Amino acid sequence: MLKIKQLAKEFGGLRAVDDVSFAVGKGTITGLIGPNGAGKTTIFNMIAGMLPPTSGEIFFDGERMDGKPDYYAFRCGLVRTFQIPRPFGEMTVLENLMMAPKHQIGELFWNTWFRMGAVRAQERLLRDQAREILEFLNLDHLAAEAAKNLSGGQHKLLELGRVLMSDPKMILLDEPGAGINPTLLGEIIERIAALNERGITFLIIEHNMDLVMNLCRPILVMANGRLLMEGDAATVRNDPRVLEAFLGGVPA
Ligand SMILES: Nc1ncnc2c1ncn2[C@@H]1O[C@H](COP(=O)(O)OP(=O)(O)O)[C@@H](O)[C@H]1O
Ligand SMILES: [Mg+2]
Repeated sequence: MLKIKQLAKEFGGLRAVDDVSFAVGKGTITGLIGPNGAGKTTIFNMIAGMLPPTSGEIFFDGERMDGKPDYYAFRCGLVRTFQIPRPFGEMTVLENLMMAPKHQIGELFWNTWFRMGAVRAQERLLRDQAREILEFLNLDHLAAEAAKNLSGGQHKLLELGRVLMSDPKMILLDEPGAGINPTLLGEIIERIAALNERGITFLIIEHNMDLVMNLCRPILVMANGRLLMEGDAATVRNDPRVLEAFLGGVPA
């Protein structure tokens, strides 16, 4: 579904991503791990169209993505979590979801005057979709709560909910498990697995090895801007190069 070929990114003299090629199969939950500074987030930024590659190619669903404007990936259904604006703290959880969709007829001035019926129908549709997603994420009891009152973990779920409003084909998650208590982490793992069963492909950067080993297959390992290896959890866990990358000499 996603293919990157010999992708590279230089910052000044630093080669943050150095000739990386890999593919993410449709329907997989692919993991991307590696020590701090390995180049993972830089790869995400390039895939999501937020950062132009120095060289290399990116394909999504067979279509060339690099060199396209920054909203293009999002329109194609390839969505990165914080591509969506941060939640509006004063607005309710439900309203935050309703702000997130792809195309909102009501935003256009003329439409609000001349197509009132269509706008109302769309708003109802949005509200239904938002409620369904909140229910799915076990956030429905917080629908009327101001977003600023959510815990860190609930914020992550809200962010996922906002992404889901855009009806994505593939979601890029950058550290969904960071700073989350174990109970909520288990819930997020479960939700990701359920969404995957409904057909959404995932590429996940994560440091929490419980999450990675439970959820991701295959797992890609990066170090120093390069792809070190790819394999299932058992293979990755037992590979001496991976141990060395995480324990040896790589600056944090
Ligand atoms: N905008 C930037 N300007 C300069 N250097 C950057 C920039 N973004 C990232 N880097 C550098 O690129 C390297 C890879 O960073 P990053 O992709 O964030 O790694 P990771 O997400 O794996 O921790 C790091 O050395 C980082 O300091
Ligand atoms: Mg990072």
